This record gives sequence, C-alpha cells and structure tokens, in this order.
Amino acid sequence: MEKGRTRVDLFEYQARDLFAKHGVPVLAGEVIDTPEAARAATERLGGKSVVKAQVKVGGRGKAGGVKLAATPDEAVARATDILGMDIKGHTVHKVMIAETAPEILEEYYVSYLLDRTNRTFLAMASVAGGMDIEEVAATTPEKLAKVPVDANEGVTIEKAREIVAQAKFPAEVAEKVAEVMVTLWKTFVAEDALLVEVNPLAKVANGDVIALDGKVSLDANAEFRQPEHEALEDKAAADPLEAAAKAKGLNYVKLDGQVGIIGNGAGLVMSTLDVVAYAGENHGGVKPANFLDIGGGASAEVMANGLEIILGDADVKSVFVNVFGGITACDAVANGIVQALALLESKGEKVEKPLVVRLDGNNAELGRQILTDANHPLVQQVDTMDGAAERAAELAAK
Ligand SMILES: Nc1ncnc2c1ncn2[C@@H]1O[C@H](COP(=O)(O)OP(=O)(O)OP(=O)(O)O)[C@@H](O)[C@H]1O
Ligand SMILES: [Mg+2]
Repeated sequence: MEKGRTRVDLFEYQARDLFAKHGVPVLAGEVIDTPEAARAATERLGGKSVVKAQVKVGGRGKAGGVKLAATPDEAVARATDILGMDIKGHTVHKVMIAETAPEILEEYYVSYLLDRTNRTFLAMASVAGGMDIEEVAATTPEKLAKVPVDANEGVTIEKAREIVAQAKFPAEVAEKVAEVMVTLWKTFVAEDALLVEVNPLAKVANGDVIALDGKVSLDANAEFRQPEHEALEDKAAADPLEAAAKAKGLNYVKLDGQVGIIGNGAGLVMSTLDVVAYAGENHGGVKPANFLDIGGGASAEVMANGLEIILGDADVKSVFVNVFGGITACDAVANGIVQALALLESKGEKVEKPLVVRLDGNNAELGRQILTDANHPLVQQVDTMDGAAERAAELAAK
C-alpha cells in the first residue's frame, strides 16, 4: 500500500454497487463515459432516467450535475451537458444513468462512521435529509440523531430500532428504515469502510424506502483482506507524477510550489519543507513543490528516479537536495547525484534546472569533494540547511 494513504473514497455508482451487494435497497444504474451511451442505458431502464455526474465532491445536484431525462434523446442531451462539466474543481468524466425513483415523498439521511475522537463507531440519522443536510447539522443539530455503536455488538435490528426512534422517523417507515440500518451496517463492516452514508434515503410513492445517493470511504489499511477493493481505486485521478513515483516505489507527494525537494528520511524532508517555505517568504512567496523522501539507501538509481520525477514537474524552478548522511554516507549520496545527472542526460533528458545540494553528517567532507570535483554546471553546494533553502528559494524566484 502507498504510504500515507488511509482512505479510498468511492464514486456514487461504486457505493451503489456495494449497497446492492449487501441488501441495501437501491435503484438500477449503470455508469457511462460518452453521451451516446446514455441512450441505450436509458432504453434499458424503460425509456427514462436520471443522469448523475460522478464526482467525489458534494453538492452535485445544486451545481446542475443531477438531471431528469424523460426520453433516451433527453438523456443523451443531459449527458452531453454534464460530461466535461466542472463541479467545484472536479471534471466530470463519468455519469451514472439511474433508474427514476417513483414520486419522492420524503428524504432522510442515514450514515455510519468511525468516530475517532470518541473511539467508537457512530450512527447518524435524520428525517431532514436531502441536499441540505450540512445546513441541518450546522443550524438545527437536534434534528440529527447521533448514536454510538459498540464494535462488538454491532447493529442488530433492536439497535437499529433504537437509532430510528432517536431520530423520530414516522411510524409508517420506522421498520423499513431500521432494516436499511441493519443492511447498511453489514456493508460498513464487510467492506471495512470508514464511512457509509445515504443521502437521500427516500420514501417513495408506494411506501418503499430507497437509497438514492450513497457515499462510501474504505479503509485503505484493510486492503490486504479486501482483494476486490483495488479495482475500486481511481487510478486515472491520481496526479501523473504521483502515479509515476508510486510505480518507482518512491514516497512522493506533489505540492503546489516551485522548489523541488529531495531528502532522506521523512522527518528531515518535513523540516526541509518548513525552511523552504520560510525562506520563500523573502522571495515572492515561493514554496516547496513536493515531498520526496528517498529513504536510507540513496543510490544513484533512487536519486535518478527522484530527480526524474521532480524535474518532470513543470512547476519546479529549482531543486533542493538535502541529505544527512547516516548509514548511507554522504560520499555515496554525492556519487548518486553525479551518476543520476549523467544517467538522465544519457537518456536524453536535459537537466536545465539548478540543484542546490546540502550534505551533512557521515562523510560530508568527502561527499562535498566529490561534487566539487564533478563540477556540474547546475549543481551548487551550500553547507547549511537554512542557507541552502535560501539559495534554492532565490533561484526559484528568478
Ligand atoms: N434516481 C433518482 N430518481 C429520482 N430522483 C433522484 C434520483 N437520484 C437523485 N434524485 C434527486 O436528486 C437529488 C440530488 O441527488 P443526489 O443526492 O444524488 O445528489 P446531491 O445530493 O446533489 O449530490 P451530493 O450527494 O454529491 O451532494 C436527490 O435529493 C433526489 O431528490
Ligand atoms: Mg445526495
């Protein structure tokens, strides 16, 4: 598993599939990525459908990302509108063509989540669901019931009835909602989720209760026992540099600044980010462009991989290599840098951005000598961390 990633947020259609698998009542739906595919999908649903943007951000409906289509032609038109749309910075690449619910009479909210603060699981439920639940929670919190769930006891039908009673569901739907709470809990446990949320849980004309929208976050730490979850990850959405770094086994996170950072050890890299951000304040606000920890074995290959990723980032204007020699001594790191630059140049990748290198710790003197002797035109050495951060920020600001 990728380091630092703890949760995997799913699209609505994936949440819908998991709900269906565990018996939570949902409507038919299929995901498509071209407008024309909306036609056949709508025909399969009997000629009408709801076209729903698939983005991992709330408020799709209000942003125009959920539209009813009364005919297959209309579905194509709505899918044309919605595909490619920007919803709060998320581009819509897929839409779900969903079955149209019977007339909606009421909209409720139900969820389970891991409540870390109170070291428990929490059920939440409200009869005031729908698109404004955030506002309900903020302005009339008494309308949102919160019931702790004991991990060992889970949610039996009795427990579910207790949750439903606390949220004051109308008598005629109480038992149906309680049954949904039981199946939703099964989903939560069986899928190792951190969150399962249904909003709205709709009461429709025939009295049925149906999950019309779902949100699920999976616990990435449980992947070892959830082989099916890998397929649910949205690889395309990951930053291409992050994906390339992951493929090379590097611990890299893209940030939005201009100074590329390479260091050995997470703690050192973290403090490097701080000193660069601090130095950047004197140079028009330049900031670190990434987090990259090359770990203990700073071999030429690892250094070359790291540099390749960082130099491939168009935002990067200068690079700060900050190494404290320990088990891997500075002379090995210096050789790594020299060989990495040669390796990149031999691959035809022109290195044009200045590198500021600070070596300290085990065999620092030797390492510095190696770099001095190599005399690479783009490499500058600064002996202190603050001084090197200052230089890197200054070069990035040019
Ligand atoms: N299949 C459906 N049939 C009929 N109406 C639907 C259907 N799905 C959604 N709706 C209506 O559209 C509204 C918004 O849909 P939905 O909850 O999926 O999106 P949203 O709440 O805007 O999105 P998000 O959950 O991302 O904030 C629902 O409250 C419901 O009234
Ligand atoms: Mg919703």
